[in-house]
Amino acid sequence: MLTHLPQHAIASHQSMTVDMAVDGLPAKLITLVNQQGMSVTLMDIGATWLSCCVPVIVDHQTQYREVLLGVSTLNDFYQQQAYLGATVGRYANRIAVGKFSLDGEDYQLSINQKGNCLHGGESGFNHRRWQMQQVNATEAQFSLLSADGDMGFPGNLQVIVTYTLTENNELAIRYSAETDKPTVVNLTNHGYFNLLGADSDKDCLSHQLMINADHYLPTDSSGIPLGKFKTVEATSFDFREPKLINQDWLADSDQQQAQGYDHSFVLRSDVRRATTACATIVAADNSLTMDVLTTKPAMQLYTGNFLAGCPNRIGGEYANYSGFALETQFLPDSPNHPEWPDNDSILRPSEHYHHLTCYRFR
Ligand code: BGC
Repeated sequence: MLTHLPQHAIASHQSMTVDMAVDGLPAKLITLVNQQGMSVTLMDIGATWLSCCVPVIVDHQTQYREVLLGVSTLNDFYQQQAYLGATVGRYANRIAVGKFSLDGEDYQLSINQKGNCLHGGESGFNHRRWQMQQVNATEAQFSLLSADGDMGFPGNLQVIVTYTLTENNELAIRYSAETDKPTVVNLTNHGYFNLLGADSDKDCLSHQLMINADHYLPTDSSGIPLGKFKTVEATSFDFREPKLINQDWLADSDQQQAQGYDHSFVLRSDVRRATTACATIVAADNSLTMDVLTTKPAMQLYTGNFLAGCPNRIGGEYANYSGFALETQFLPDSPNHPEWPDNDSILRPSEHYHHLTCYRFR
C-alpha cells in the first residue's frame, strides 16, 4: 500500500526525519495506510497531522489526492504560525487577556496574540515533542505530560491523542486528559483542508459547506467573544442548508473585521454524539466530500484569512483562503463564561476529559 504514497509525502518523510528539531533530535514520523490506499502521516512534534492522501476517482481512475495543507521541512514547520495540522492545547482558541479564575484562584496565562492567550500560549502543545507509538497499521497514539504551571495553566495534565484510520476513509482523533489539580482543557486539531488539492493553487471558497448550528458567537476584532450567541437566521453565518462559502462572503461586519469566517458555531445538541455530521463540505467539482463528526459542543470555521506567506510543501507559499479549518472545541474564552450551556472546559482530578472528532472522506 505504501506505493500509493505521493512523492511529496515520501520526500517530507526523508527530510523531516533528518533535520534536527529544537531539542537537537530529528522528528519521528508515522504513516497509517488502510486497505483503500488512504494514507495519513503523523509527526511526534506537535502530534501533528502532516499529510492526508485520499483516493479520488477521476475519469474512472483512482488518484491519491493530498487534501491537507502542510510543510515538507522542519524549518518551515517552526516558521509557520498557522498551526498547520497540529494538536492544539492546553486551551485551543482564545482566552481573553490570558486570565481566568477557578475555585477562587486567579490565573495569568502566557499572552501570545493581540494581548490574549491563543492556542495555549507562546509554547503550546503544537511545538512539543510527544511520545509517539504506532499501535498497528492504522492507529498511532501520542502522549504528553504538561507540567503544573505550563504556560500558566494549573495542574499536571496527562494528555493522550489517538489517531485511527478506518476502512471507511475516516480519520478518528480521540483526545483524553487527566489532571491532578482543577484546570481548563480544550484540545483540537488545527488541520486545514482543500478538497480540490492542498497544493492545487485553488482557494477553498468555492467549496460547499453545511454546518449543523443555529447560533454563532460574534467576536471583537481580536477574536474575543462579545458574550452572547447570535442566531444564524438571516445572517451570512447560516450554513444550515449547504451553500458555497463565498455565497455571502464578507456580507456583514462580523465577517469583515475577520477578513472572512473566523468564528465559532454552537453545534446543535443532536450532532454532539459523533454519529451525525456536524459539518459537511464538498469540493466545487463534487469530486470529494468531507464530513466532520464530533462529541464537542462547538466548532470554529476559519477560512484561512491570514495564511498568506505560510510555506507550503512544494517550495512556495500558501495564499489567504488556500484552505479552511474546522476546529472542534469548546467555545473560545469559555472559562470566563460559565453562563454558556454545555461549554464547561473545567477538568477536575476526579474527572476524565474524553472527546472524539472524526474526519470522513467520501
Ligand atoms: C484562529 C485564527 C488564527 C489561526 C491561526 C485559528 O484557530 O481562530 O484567528 O489566525 O487559528 O493561529
